[in-house]
Formats: sequence, structure tokens, C-alpha cells
Amino acid sequence: MCGIVGASAQNNIIPILIEGLKRLEYRGYDSCGIALQTAGMLKRSRTTERVGDLERQLMESPLHGATGIGHTRWATHGAPASHNAHPHISRERIALVHNGIIENHEALKAELADAGYGFESETDTEVIAHLIDSLYRGDLYEAVRESISRLKGAYAIAVISRDEPGRMIGARLGSPLVLGIGDSAHYLASDAMALAGVTDRIIYLEDGDITDLSPHGFSVSDAAGHRVERDIKRVTIETGGTDLGPYRHFMQKEIFEQPRAVADTLEGVVAITPELFGERAAEVFAGTDSVLVLACGTSFYAGLVAKYWIEAVARIPVQVEIASEYRYRDSVPDPRTLSVVVSQSGETADTLAALKHAKSQGMKHSLAICNVGTSAMVRECELSYVTRAGVEVGVASTKAFTTQLVSLFLLALTLAKCKGRLPAEQEADHIKAMRHLPTAISAVLALEPQVIAWADTFAHKEHALFLGRGLHYPIALEGALKLKEISYIHAEGYPAGELKHGPLALVTGDMPVVTIAPNDALIEKLKSNMQEVRARGGKLYVFADADSHVSTGEGMRVIRLPEHYGLLSPILHVVTLQLLAYHTALARGTDVDKPRNLAKSVTVE
Ligand code: M6R
Repeated sequence: MCGIVGASAQNNIIPILIEGLKRLEYRGYDSCGIALQTAGMLKRSRTTERVGDLERQLMESPLHGATGIGHTRWATHGAPASHNAHPHISRERIALVHNGIIENHEALKAELADAGYGFESETDTEVIAHLIDSLYRGDLYEAVRESISRLKGAYAIAVISRDEPGRMIGARLGSPLVLGIGDSAHYLASDAMALAGVTDRIIYLEDGDITDLSPHGFSVSDAAGHRVERDIKRVTIETGGTDLGPYRHFMQKEIFEQPRAVADTLEGVVAITPELFGERAAEVFAGTDSVLVLACGTSFYAGLVAKYWIEAVARIPVQVEIASEYRYRDSVPDPRTLSVVVSQSGETADTLAALKHAKSQGMKHSLAICNVGTSAMVRECELSYVTRAGVEVGVASTKAFTTQLVSLFLLALTLAKCKGRLPAEQEADHIKAMRHLPTAISAVLALEPQVIAWADTFAHKEHALFLGRGLHYPIALEGALKLKEISYIHAEGYPAGELKHGPLALVTGDMPVVTIAPNDALIEKLKSNMQEVRARGGKLYVFADADSHVSTGEGMRVIRLPEHYGLLSPILHVVTLQLLAYHTALARGTDVDKPRNLAKSVTVE
């Protein structure tokens, strides 16, 4: 997704902008650029190549300036092309970068065209640059303030003017923007990560805020135009994990980091206590009658697994909703419902909006399960549990998912305990099983060579079906998502019992049917579903537990995991599906870490 970095300092800020853009690269982008105030002019450099190419471009035609803005663009309005790349400049006077989507850009464009403005791009962003220029009377802050009052939609912007050296204005609504405080320098960024190594003093701007900054100072005003003091946070910006080490791809590295990530996420958990989720958790959980999980993509599937756990262990009803649907649905609110947002980034626009919607409906208690402790979701929620997966770079989520699952299992146990439904003996057994997870995951990772052998067959397929039942149905969904997003093979996940209600019609000898077959209460039912596939000449690829009693035979290949791992089994089974997707994509030669059309952090609706 798009990324912003801006700096107002006393010396050349090109290295800061380039380094900041590099730190934002993992989010996904298709063009990038910078604009600077230099010698009474605005100068710009843009490319549809990588940030490294922009850097080379700047070495060949050097630019120098102490105030400037940079951007990585992920195309929404207008194709990935140089003329659509940010910064956008209006009449050589105003330069602007923007994250978000301006919904009324067409009406504004018509109005600005009537006023004589020409448009060189198809973006909604260029409209804001011209709008600010049209309202500029020598005070950039005033022009920005007036302009944003006319915008509908979501934005984070950083703006500079040719005529006000050293001044930079930032504003946000619906898209994140942080203000970094340095020594005789101030910065703007869409993510504090862009400022790693530059400053650790960060202000998280709130919706409606406008900031006015120069090397020597800054001010923040809220949506009503009142000067406000926002907290300055000392932030430890985690940049570790962005080196590949011995791995070929970040996804592979992140799959293999899972034993460590799970162990870190469980660090300090010696007993089940509500305080794991925050100071007020005991009181909140005591009054919780039901749970509403809101999330997108892989995080949504983590929520689906949690439904099985929380309902089985804590006996509390759980609803799991795709955030982009929930936020616009006319649902029935219940103030005794705990809203739980699950997110790797903590910045996903739909999940954030769904959370705000739940709150606006009167569901005031909220909990974030999130991998970024400083994210908007964690800040927005009363309670939180921060997963310790470490920075996840690959677009396909892996270690974030397994650590979300571990955290959600902890939540299930905690709710059960708060409701008096977790006997001490069971609590001890569950903690022991969780502590053993890193070792159990390592044993599953050792199956990689067997998975590679299957991947060669999958690489030549265009369709695949993933089946699971019960707790492993969401794992089938996740396996299908992993395969489709990085290998571009069309894949569907289904609860195996649904086969005969439609998808069985797809089964031929050419359709691989991946089946997750743990030795749980549904294994015999699942075996019947597998026979339905075999009887139609379908080819089964089964991930079974050692004690599932499923063997390789005609039309059926089996990889055996260790013995059944009880309620935590989904955390092991998903690892095999991650490996299958990774090696299939590798065999097909796709861009594993940056699959086409996708971004790591989806900060627009
Ligand atoms: O950062 P989030 O967990 O909120 O992101 C949600 C989805 O965008 C994300 O899980 C997406 O589906 C991944 N590409 C899946 O691998």
C-alpha cells in the first residue's frame, strides 16, 4: 500500500527520504517518487521501478534540499505509471503526497478544470494538489485547512510549497500519519517504521489533525481547529527481520521463524490471567456475554478458528465477521459483546472502520490481537494482546497467523477461566501443550522435503480444492488463500461435508483435492468424504496425523504429521499448507513475497 515520508531539516534530506521509502517497500507499491524545495523551486523525481532505482536516478541527476516529501504508490485511481506517481505538483508551487481515497474527486476535478487547472494524471491525489493551490494565499497551513474541509473520503497528506522554505503541512483522516520529532528536524510518515534510525520520538496524529512543521518546531490542531498537545511516545521501532539471512524469500524465512515467533508470543505466560490482555480485562471479561471478531483475509480465518475454541472452551457465543461487510451491515448491537479485532498490521482500513462502527453501535469493549504494538488498532482498543511474530515482510501472512492463533487460544482459556469454566488441571494441560508448540512446529517443518515433492505436481495445475472439517475447516480456507495469492492457482476451501452439495461436480482426475485429516472426532466422517472424491476419480493429497490411520493408495497420497495435537492441531496443520503454497509458487516462478496486485498493509478501503 501507499507510503509517505517527509522531512523538514537543516541539511540534505534525500538519504532520509530514500531510506524511509525503502523501509516502506515491504508494504507493496508500483511506483515511487520524491519532491524537494531547492533553490526557490520544487524539484521532483519519480519512477515506476523500485526505490533503489529512484536512488540511482538521484545519483545520476543529484538533487539537494532540506525539506521534501517522498511516496511509494500502490495504484488505485489510474494505472501504475510515472505520470500517476506521487508527489503531484500544482503550478510549480504546491507538491503533495497522499495515502487514501478521495471519494468526491470527480466533482472537485470538474470544478478545478473550470478554474483553468490542467490534469496530467488520472489520480484523485492531483485534485488535492490543485485544490490547495487554488486556495493558496501565501499561507500553506490555511490553504490545506480549507482544502481538507472540502474532501470526502480518507487521506493522509504531506504538503510543501515552493514559496515557504522549510515548512511542511501534514493532515490525516482515516489513513495513518505520524509526526517524528528530531533535533532541529521534524518528519512525517505513514508508518513510524519509515523513521527508524532517524527518531524514536513519535506523535500518532488523530483523525482530523493538521500539523504545521519546520526544522525548529511544530504545532498540531484538531478537526475543530483548536491547538492541541498530543502525547509524544518513545517508540522502539522494530526493523530486525528485514534481512533475508540464508533464505530465498521472506515468506520462507517467516515460515521457518514460527517456532521462535510462537515461543516469543507466549513468553511470560505462566498462568491464565485476564491481565495478559490489559489492566481492565478482568472487569471487561466478567461482563462479556458474547464475542464479535472483526478481521480481513488470513486474520479473518484466525477468527474463525477462535470461534470453535471460544465456544467449546468458554461456552460463549462468537460471531466472526469480514470487516468490510460488517462495517456497512445493519447488525444488531449488544453492549455486552466484546469486539475483537485481529490484524497483523493493525492498520487495515476495513478492520479499523469495523471497530469504530461496533463502538458507535454501543459496543464499548474492544480488544486488539495485533502484531504491531503501536498500531492504530491497539491504540483504539481498550484491551490488547500483542503477538510477537516480529516484522512480517512477505505479503502472504504466515507467522502472524500462527501467533494470532496462539493469542486467540489464550483468549479462549482466559474467558473460560473468568467464567469459572477452566478447571486447574485443564489449565495446566493447555499451558503445557502451548509451551510444547515450538517443538511440535519444528517437527512439522521437517516435513518440507515431502511437501516439495507434491509441489511439483501442483505447479502444473490451475485449480485445487482444500477440504477440512470442524476446527480445520478455516485451515482449509487459509490453505486455499495461501495457494491462490502467491501461485495464482485458483483454489477453494470447503468444509468436507459440503462436497456433495456442489463442489463435488468439480472433481476430476485433474483436480488435486488437499484434505486436512487430523485424528479428531470427525475423522471417520472425513474419511467418508474422501471416499466420495476417490469414487469420482479425484486425486487426494492428505495431511494426516500419525494416528489418523490414513494410508497412501490408489488416488491418495499422504503426508503424516506427528500425533494428533488436540485443540491446537490447526496451528500445526496450517504450516504444511504454507509450505505447499510456497513451494508451488517457487516452482511456478512467481514473485512469492510481492504477488501481483497485492499489498502487505491494506490501508485503503
Ligand atoms: O494486517 P491484517 O492482518 O489486518 O491484514 C489482513 C489481510 O489483508 C491479510 O491477512 C491478507 O489476506 C494476507 N495477504 C493473507 O496472506
